[in-house]
Amino acid sequence: MHVKIRFLGHSAFLLEAGEARVMIDPFLTGNPKAEEAGLKADDFDPTHIVLTHGHADHLGDTPALAKRTGCEVIAPFEICEWLGSEHGHEHTNPGNPGGHVGTSFGGVTFTHAIHSSSYEGRYMGCPTGVVVSIGGKTIYHAGDTSLFADMRRIGENHMPHVAILPVGDRFTMGPKDAKTAAEWIGAKITIPCHYGTWPLLTDDLSAFTPDGVEVRKLKAGETLEI
Ligand code: NI
Ligand code: MN
Repeated sequence: MHVKIRFLGHSAFLLEAGEARVMIDPFLTGNPKAEEAGLKADDFDPTHIVLTHGHADHLGDTPALAKRTGCEVIAPFEICEWLGSEHGHEHTNPGNPGGHVGTSFGGVTFTHAIHSSSYEGRYMGCPTGVVVSIGGKTIYHAGDTSLFADMRRIGENHMPHVAILPVGDRFTMGPKDAKTAAEWIGAKITIPCHYGTWPLLTDDLSAFTPDGVEVRKLKAGETLEI
């Protein structure tokens, strides 16, 4: 089955295969790249939301989308607890790094990420990356993270078709370390994200040149089909 990977700006993606419409880190309201491209949360109708961590630029429009659509939210445990207690959204599917969560479209494995995770001062559990199995394809979205040696293992264990990597520096790895990450993971295609959204994040990807990996730099709103 073909899988459509649509970039929604910053770290937000929509994966579509068959009946499944899976949003990852759906931050649209207040996302300058999404707004430039005319992408609005109200225009999306996800069946599932997958969250890597609780920072506002990832959690984003999750409460409003979950309320409107009733979609399943697959996220670190503490975020699922918060959605239940603060937003009355009980349709959640929690996990933590190392754990696999089965879903109607396939599944999500949470990986390690070196970062932090909080929302309005509240602890939101471990930051994670996610390996998403959908439509017979495997996509690794690393979340926000530095480079770490176990990325090699993630590549070997899951053999992702596509790696989505943060490259903007300062809060995550920068282009040079992300080049190493892409080479270690070994996916044939890599999509950079989390860069240039604001002046604090670099927009210069000239050092992001992984050997043997095709870099697909998508504009907000663009789709890659695999
Ligand atoms: Ni973050
Ligand atoms: Mn972030």
